Amino acid sequence: MQKNTVVLGFSDYRLQASKLAAALQANYAEVHVHYFPDQECKLTLPTDLPGHVIVCRSLHAPNTKLVELYLLAKALRDQSCEKLTLVAPYLCYMRQDKAFNPGEVVSQRWIGAFIADLFDEVITVDAHLHRIDSIEHVIHTGRATTLSASHLIGRYVASKLDAPMIMGPDEESLQWVKQVAEPQGFDFCVAEKTRKTDSDVSIKLPAVNVQHRDIVLVDDVASTGNTLIEAAKLLATRAPNNVYCALTHALFVNDAYLQLMALGIKAVWSTDSISHISNRISLAKLLAKDVTL
Ligand code: R5P
Repeated sequence: MQKNTVVLGFSDYRLQASKLAAALQANYAEVHVHYFPDQECKLTLPTDLPGHVIVCRSLHAPNTKLVELYLLAKALRDQSCEKLTLVAPYLCYMRQDKAFNPGEVVSQRWIGAFIADLFDEVITVDAHLHRIDSIEHVIHTGRATTLSASHLIGRYVASKLDAPMIMGPDEESLQWVKQVAEPQGFDFCVAEKTRKTDSDVSIKLPAVNVQHRDIVLVDDVASTGNTLIEAAKLLATRAPNNVYCALTHALFVNDAYLQLMALGIKAVWSTDSISHISNRISLAKLLAKDVTL
């Protein structure tokens, strides 16, 4: 058992954080959060924490969580915690990486700075970094890494299907699609996407024959689900055998998942980055290997 390390979680992420603790052979402890009627919160920390605290929580639906992270990290520093690691499989605000119109705030930069100020080490998975090379350009702290779940997804797909075609719904997904497909020897291709609004996208499928093939749509994240939904609608007109979806971060806001399933998708497979009915792939071992003890 690691004596100088604890994984500290929140009740909404207990399953994943305690799996990480088990993979690290470290103890698991939990922060208690009380919400007042006016929506302020009060955090109560376990006592006698060791020198290295690993905070584990994905940062979807982020605004409240960011305040809680701030209060927690400041209190831990105040207790003379020597090393603070954040394991956040889903890192929020990474898609707002550019001012598309005058006056827009580039949230990626400022949320990155906010997190860097609180933690010595930051570990995330398939962060949405399209216009920069490395997470270290966003989070300037001792160590920041973004891991990829693609090989885990590839292996999972291989355990379920023979010779599927892996298809990305847009050009940006090529990085994940290749990493899923190539090690398994699967065919792969990507579609083209034009985003008009948050929830309005149009897709142009690549000129490949999908007839009688099992197609797996692969993306990093599904939010409104419309990217996958539009791709699935178009695929349905081309007589594939079955269509599946595989992704790292199953945000699936509102009824996105039901809308997707209503199109006759055979199965959706996701990592447990965000708790969701489609979770099939645990990230615990991948994350544990990257934590420096
Ligand atoms: C965008 O570039 C991402 O890779 C995803 O395709 C996108 O964020 C999915 O969003 P939605 O589910 O809202 O279409």
